[in-house]
Amino acid sequence: MAVVAIYSVKGGVGKTTFAANLAWCAAMQSSRRTLLWDLDAAGGASFLLGVDPKKKKRATSVISKDIDPAKLIRHTDYPRLDLLPADESLRALDVQLAEIGKKNRIAKLTADLMKDYDRLILDCPPVLNELSSQIVRAADLIVVPIPPSPLSARALDIVREEVSAEGKKAPPIMPVFSMVDRRRTLHRDSILDQKKWPVIPSASAIEQCATHLAPVGAFAPRSPAARAFKALWTDIERKLAKG
Ligand SMILES: Nc1ncnc2c1ncn2[C@@H]1O[C@H](COP(=O)(O)OP(=O)(O)O)[C@@H](O)[C@H]1O
Ligand SMILES: [Mg+2]
Repeated sequence: MAVVAIYSVKGGVGKTTFAANLAWCAAMQSSRRTLLWDLDAAGGASFLLGVDPKKKKRATSVISKDIDPAKLIRHTDYPRLDLLPADESLRALDVQLAEIGKKNRIAKLTADLMKDYDRLILDCPPVLNELSSQIVRAADLIVVPIPPSPLSARALDIVREEVSAEGKKAPPIMPVFSMVDRRRTLHRDSILDQKKWPVIPSASAIEQCATHLAPVGAFAPRSPAARAFKALWTDIERKLAKG
């Protein structure tokens, strides 16, 4: 059982794209019972998996424990892959958590959810607040998508600081290059600098997830993009196995 958070303090780096595609890999490639928990009020992960939003905005009630998450969990088109959707009620999630005053609320909720799942993938908003601290406490592994740029490298430094604040219990961080275009010098140089980091290419097939409303493995299984996510998921499983 493992909780994998897809997190960065920076927006637009590929978190939601990673979360939807990696959750699909967990369910379809590794045959894990997988739950994707969308913690971003924007609801991008739900959208990418083709799950229509519900009218009632109740995601916040899961956090306050006023509703059993099972009531909101939706099946997807894919076997073993379920989704706990976000909605706008999560907009003030950090304030809500601070008001509740339980430092491990997210960790408790993930522990409960893990009774029914083998892998829990968290799609996180780009924040540095009570929510991100709680996510760090709940996660077994933190995957940080990093487009090759100085600003992204800075975002990684901030994530490292945030995570190390948890001391000995801090989960490992796995930086992953995102949106890599090997025709660009800066991108090639960045990859040469960090040869061990996995690479997800910049690809129109990945952009098209948002028009197909499906992970790339589902509609273009032989594309380089699908193979890159497959290889990344294999790396993640290996890392989780090592503990
Ligand atoms: N590897 C990629 N190649 C091409 N476009 C990508 C790739 N990863 C993400 N995108 C696009 O970049 C935008 C931001 O990605 P998203 O996953 O929403 O980032 P975040 O969740 O970090 O804000 C989206 O329009 C998405 O389709
Ligand atoms: Mg996102």
